[in-house]
Amino acid sequence: MDNSSAIGVFDSGLGGLTVAREVIRALPEEKIVYFGDTARVPYGSKSASTIRHYAEQILAFLKTQDVKAIVVACNTVSAYALEDLRHSVPVPVVGVVKPGARVAAAATKNRRIGVIGTEGTVKSGLYERFICEIDPGIRIFQKACPLFVPLVEEGWWKDSITREVAERYLAPLKEEGVDTLIMGCTHYPLIRKLIGEVIGPEVQLINPAYETAQELMRVLSREQLLRTDKTPLTKEEQYRFYVSDAPEKFRAFAEAVLHFETPDAERVNIEAY
Ligand code: DGL
Repeated sequence: MDNSSAIGVFDSGLGGLTVAREVIRALPEEKIVYFGDTARVPYGSKSASTIRHYAEQILAFLKTQDVKAIVVACNTVSAYALEDLRHSVPVPVVGVVKPGARVAAAATKNRRIGVIGTEGTVKSGLYERFICEIDPGIRIFQKACPLFVPLVEEGWWKDSITREVAERYLAPLKEEGVDTLIMGCTHYPLIRKLIGEVIGPEVQLINPAYETAQELMRVLSREQLLRTDKTPLTKEEQYRFYVSDAPEKFRAFAEAVLHFETPDAERVNIEAY
């Protein structure tokens, strides 16, 4: 495998750009191919078998892009399909759940951790499993927050309606006295400030994306896959973005997340893979 190849990052939609953002921060010299399944988002309410099927199609697409590693930015896919995906490609595959669980387990002082995510992520119980493997004495309190995804996609990141929804979702976790809260969904870091204000300043918020990027860096270094050619690249050469629908909506969202002028996204017929 050529170390000058790109890293593939994929998500059910555009929320995974929060993970791409951390990868770009941690590995600013790497090339990235991002795929967002905007035609079939949300994954959070779909069955495990549908999610696995979708993820396999995306992997088949990423293989055509000659990627040297794959980051599964979507929590729901990481929760339901990661092990299967690892068997489907000959390159390292990094998910977001294990790194998020690891950093939360290290951060909690009172051993009470809250997990918020999609219905699928919560139902899979994978955050809980990984945390309990590290420390079986930690208690986990989970809450699915399905309305956050459409609110974030609508751009209502600071809206009073989003705050009211957050108050309702987070009240039971507050009551349980969690001191650490995992934002177990790609979209939630975009409303981090609001979540923090609602849950309270004493609760540490964990963004699994940050630790995922660190994990990716370790994996690439171990496999000698870090890019060694230091020739500067234009944004177009460095970052390629693909979506399965509505590429015209991509740029505004991407630029709000990534804070640089992004190239346009191209549409891919993902059902053909
Ligand atoms: N990307 C999904 C996740 O992190 C959230 C959006 C969806 O439901 O597809 O779980």
